[in-house]
Amino acid sequence: MSTVVLIGAQWGDEGKGKVTDFLAEKADVVVRYQGGTNAGHTLNVADKVFKLHLIPSGILYPGKTCVIGNGVVLDPAALVKEMVGLQERNIDLAQLRISDRAHLVMPYHKLLDELDEKQRKEGKIGTTLRGIGPAYMDKVNRVGMRVADLLDELELREKLSAILEAKNMFLTKVYGEQPFSLERIVGELRQYAEILRPYITDTSVLLEVLILQNKKVLFEGAQGTMLDLDHGTYPYVTSSSPTAGGACCGTGIGPLRIKHVVGVAKAYTTRVGDGPFPSEITGAMAERIREIGREYGTTTGRPRRIGWLDIVVLRHACRVNGLSFLALTLLDVLAGLETVKICTGYRLRGELIAHVPASLHALDSCEPVFEELPGWQEDLSGVEQFEDFPETAKAYVRRIARLLGVPVALVSVGPERLQTKVLHEIF
Ligand code: GDP
Ligand code: IMO
Ligand code: MG
Repeated sequence: MSTVVLIGAQWGDEGKGKVTDFLAEKADVVVRYQGGTNAGHTLNVADKVFKLHLIPSGILYPGKTCVIGNGVVLDPAALVKEMVGLQERNIDLAQLRISDRAHLVMPYHKLLDELDEKQRKEGKIGTTLRGIGPAYMDKVNRVGMRVADLLDELELREKLSAILEAKNMFLTKVYGEQPFSLERIVGELRQYAEILRPYITDTSVLLEVLILQNKKVLFEGAQGTMLDLDHGTYPYVTSSSPTAGGACCGTGIGPLRIKHVVGVAKAYTTRVGDGPFPSEITGAMAERIREIGREYGTTTGRPRRIGWLDIVVLRHACRVNGLSFLALTLLDVLAGLETVKICTGYRLRGELIAHVPASLHALDSCEPVFEELPGWQEDLSGVEQFEDFPETAKAYVRRIARLLGVPVALVSVGPERLQTKVLHEIF
């Protein structure tokens, strides 16, 4: 069995797209299992930049099966736009498959995301406004529209009519908004359905066949562990399960089908959106890292908040995901610093703690405890072998592996495929 789940070990944007694209060369199948267009995965290949939101990051290699699993919330308008954009750049979509059980992000979800955020005022989450939370709310509330509903217009109309009645009542009475027109939404969905129909299938059945054929399957997480609905910094999280367990529910495969779990982590930490961030830094150092690392959101363009590497967070990620390996990215960004810091613990009301507290108030009160290591001046982006890195850069990577008790399998020193050093083979 050759199956790997790749997850974000921090607050998202760890470089999952880049690492997935790198590993996809050897994989046969790449699968998205949760999230939606809140994800923004950047792939740099031969002077071209691709920003993917819904389509798995294996799509740039011809012939790889790319699956959008049932756990994804799928905005049909956004998906069609992304597909057209790729086709215009000569990317073949013949091997794309879409789960018939995936839920749809509807126009009212996007409006509700915006209205809910406004209503939260100071307590806003800082969502991507892509309708993700409201779509998952409807799924849990058993009033979601699914991809399968697109395939039968009569059923679609009937189901949507009942849902829209309730949605419109809420939107007009509570928020004073205009109601959505059933005809308009059905008309739009009919067009999307015709484009998407050839790609729609039962992807759980498909994946079982592929796994039994011993195909190499890579599950590509979106967001990150600290944005996980259960294991993240609730309520400043997304509404899905980006952690490794989500790959099973989000695709319809059993847990025993997973061989390895790879956690992608930046050599420092970023967060976009609101919420606690114990190792956050501000001022000139944060500015420097933001500019060198080009730390601006792929989906929303917002400047990302910056912090030192947080081992408490990564230990949490190792545990809740059961990590077999780490992939360390953006190490090149830290070049030129006198020293680099690692947060090894938190001090909470005078006491040293090694775990992420559940209480938001407690987490907000945590003071980071830092270990300082010597930096390196050399540019790593062109160095061919990990062995040729400056000793201090190697020591930084080894220190992280030792603190976590998890081997570092990949080190990335630039956005391009070739700027990836393999320390352990994953597939
Ligand atoms: P994702 O959401 O986890 O896929 O990450 P994003 O694509 O949102 O953000 C990661 C950014 O870092 C992208 O712009 C990548 O091109 C870039 N990137 C990935 N790995 C490296 C690296 O090792 N070094 C540098 N400098 N940039 C990287
Ligand atoms: P990728 O896959 C970073 C954040 C938002 C917000 C919170 C909830 O590119 O790593 P949502 O729109 O999901 O309801 O917003 O989650 N967030 C991300 N942050 N990377 C992402 O995806 C994110 N997707 C959502 O900024 O704080
Ligand atoms: Mg991203």
